[in-house]
Amino acid sequence: MADALRASDALGASDALGASDALGASDALGASEGLGASEAVSASIDVAAIRARFSSLQQGFAFFDAPGGTQVPDEVGEAIAEALREASANLGAGYATSMRVGKILEEAEDKAARFLSCDPREVIFGPNMTTLNFALSRTAARALRPGDEILVSSLDHDAGVAPWLEIAHDGDLVVRHVALNDDTTLDFGDLERKLGPRTKVVAFAWASNAVGTVTDARRVCRLAHDAGALAWVDAVHYAAHEPIDVRHIGADLLICSPYKFCGPHLGVACGRAEVIERWRPYKARPAPTRPLGRSFETGTLPYELLAGFNATIDYLESIGGFAAIVPYERSLGQRFLDGLSDAVTIYGRPGMAGRVPTFLVNVEGVAAQDVAASLATAQIGVWAHDSWYSLGLYQRLGYKDKSVRIGFIHYNNAEEVDRLLEALDRVRRT
Ligand SMILES: Cc1ncc(COP(=O)(O)O)c(C=O)c1O
Repeated sequence: MADALRASDALGASDALGASDALGASDALGASEGLGASEAVSASIDVAAIRARFSSLQQGFAFFDAPGGTQVPDEVGEAIAEALREASANLGAGYATSMRVGKILEEAEDKAARFLSCDPREVIFGPNMTTLNFALSRTAARALRPGDEILVSSLDHDAGVAPWLEIAHDGDLVVRHVALNDDTTLDFGDLERKLGPRTKVVAFAWASNAVGTVTDARRVCRLAHDAGALAWVDAVHYAAHEPIDVRHIGADLLICSPYKFCGPHLGVACGRAEVIERWRPYKARPAPTRPLGRSFETGTLPYELLAGFNATIDYLESIGGFAAIVPYERSLGQRFLDGLSDAVTIYGRPGMAGRVPTFLVNVEGVAAQDVAASLATAQIGVWAHDSWYSLGLYQRLGYKDKSVRIGFIHYNNAEEVDRLLEALDRVRRT
């Protein structure tokens, strides 16, 4: 099976998300900025060449655990090592190592802005999404009052929910959960019913890390704004699979984590300037307040990881950005769905429309941890877990104990998908 696949052989760009309630790839703005998907019809991806850039993919092990954290191309590791060798300093001195650090940081702000389609001064770096979300939600909550309401979605990872629950606990606020439809899409009727004059924030995951369901982020942001609330987006899972344009969707705050898209362990947020310039940051007093986003970064940043982040964005652009990634990943997902036996239950949306290629499954008659253990023996990496940190969704799906998560990403290939399908068949028979 040829690794290289022309996008036009896979689902067309206009079908890239299919569902009208999702931001279609052809609708994604910012493509001309480098990482968008609007030119998807003419893009192709050379997976063999991509895989050659990852030492970790040379061992014959098939990684389908990208939703928990991806493999990283060697060049990213090399950029980190180089920064430690040649730019070990702090910001602001007049000698070479310090100036290199300054350059790494500015480049990282520019590249994050390009990745998210925002302004570099709106970029805020932190250790991971969870920590950034606790910090930034607390900062925003300084303007909230007892009785104010925060809406979260029942599709969310708890890193998008727990910070608001803690704020509500401390400040006598109310957190309400927006319900899901049976296919795990957001129930917009319920969202509209729950929005009201006390709603101050609507927080939601753009894509589910468990079932892969994509939420129409633009629609949620518009409804939040109509109600006078902030739109707060967890893009951690989405960012690995689809292009992001914060302006297009209208998010006030959006956070993602580069280790989910072939980068180092970091968190990156984008805060709309007109919103965050009104916030009072938690910061050490002499620390810089310009550019704007730096006001919300605490302490010294991991500059070597920012160098790795810069190499990650270069890597993604060099393989064709999301114009190449989106149709290829969708073809892998479709191949998987086409080859699945009836003994495998898929939770959430049944086809590729309105989702990213992350699947939550159970195999009839076999406990999820036994499925994962058996696949590990076959050199295939997946996990079994109960809630996948998505507590509302876990309740809603109602399966017993655990499930298996299978996550495809652009460095996977068709041969690996076929091996997975065969291994799943064997699990059932043994
Ligand atoms: C959808 C989603 N949100 C938030 C998080 C938390 O991200 P981090 O590990 O960067 O704190 C994860 C992690 O898996 C996730 O999948």
